[in-house]
Amino acid sequence: MISRRALLSGAVAAAAAGTLAACGKKESPSSSSSGGTKQITLGFSQVGSESGWRSANTSSVKDAAAAAGINLKFSDAQQKQENQIQAIRDYIAQKVDVISFSPVVSSGWDTVLKEAQAAKIPVILTDRQVDSSQDLWVSLVGSDFEIEGERAAHLLEKVLQGATGAVNIAVLEGTTGSAPATQRAAGFKKVMDASHPDWKIVASQTGDFTRDGGKQVMAAFLTSHPEINVLFAHNDDMALGAIQSIQAAGKKPGTDIKIVSIDGVHDGFVAMAAGQINAIAECNPLLGPQLMDAVKKVLAGQTLEKWIKTQEADFVAADAAAALPNRKY
Ligand code: AHR
Repeated sequence: MISRRALLSGAVAAAAAGTLAACGKKESPSSSSSGGTKQITLGFSQVGSESGWRSANTSSVKDAAAAAGINLKFSDAQQKQENQIQAIRDYIAQKVDVISFSPVVSSGWDTVLKEAQAAKIPVILTDRQVDSSQDLWVSLVGSDFEIEGERAAHLLEKVLQGATGAVNIAVLEGTTGSAPATQRAAGFKKVMDASHPDWKIVASQTGDFTRDGGKQVMAAFLTSHPEINVLFAHNDDMALGAIQSIQAAGKKPGTDIKIVSIDGVHDGFVAMAAGQINAIAECNPLLGPQLMDAVKKVLAGQTLEKWIKTQEADFVAADAAAALPNRKY
């Protein structure tokens, strides 16, 4: 989690990174030797295509780059850190103006981030945080995952209102070592520890943010823990996979097993409107416009906020049908 003190020192680092970029050996992207405007080139390394959220995020980045007139070099890392590191090294070799990436996991970025810094190429994180020193990246455009975990727990409070009896929770975790998996788990636990000593997590395992992962892991949970009556899924896709296993086990999703998830993708809303998911804490994937704005600002030498957050809302099943036609992803 980024602290308030870090945010202040980060703003200074962001300004410095902008200056570095402007003072680097490369020609400033805002002007060319012929007097015209040189197009900005952004190298972007995406995690993969593991979820509906990710597809919406990829479209948002591509559309926003086109709308902003930014030349986007895009690569899909297929959920492998080594592919992301290679993509970043390729962007450094190509002397792009700015590098951005959504880190598949939080650790292991120091070396490549130092290489980008040595090449005077500013790095803007999107979506997920890294645990590297904050002077190695300029800004993060993305959500507060710990708050999302807390919001999911508060949604579960609403879903369980008036219910009696044991609360036996299964958790489908996101990709192990990723910021959303670690921080959503922490946020959910924070609310449990503070207000719900009676809630019990009886099973918790990664489904890697995929529909198939959610399906497989939930099937195993239902065999080993038939007492499960709540599912907290770190994203909608895993909840959607789990719904298939719950039905295959002869149980009714949303009724026999209450389900709370995170994201708010179209298919998640359809399942919520059908009463199969009880509540969703939205995580906004439409980060492209804020990212392009940040790219332009850093190259113009402007100070960026260390953490540029997004707008998000909570939904329960009763809201789903009315909200569905207005969903943008
Ligand atoms: O980092 C954001 C998370 O990554 C989304 O919640 C999930 O769906 C995606 O795979």
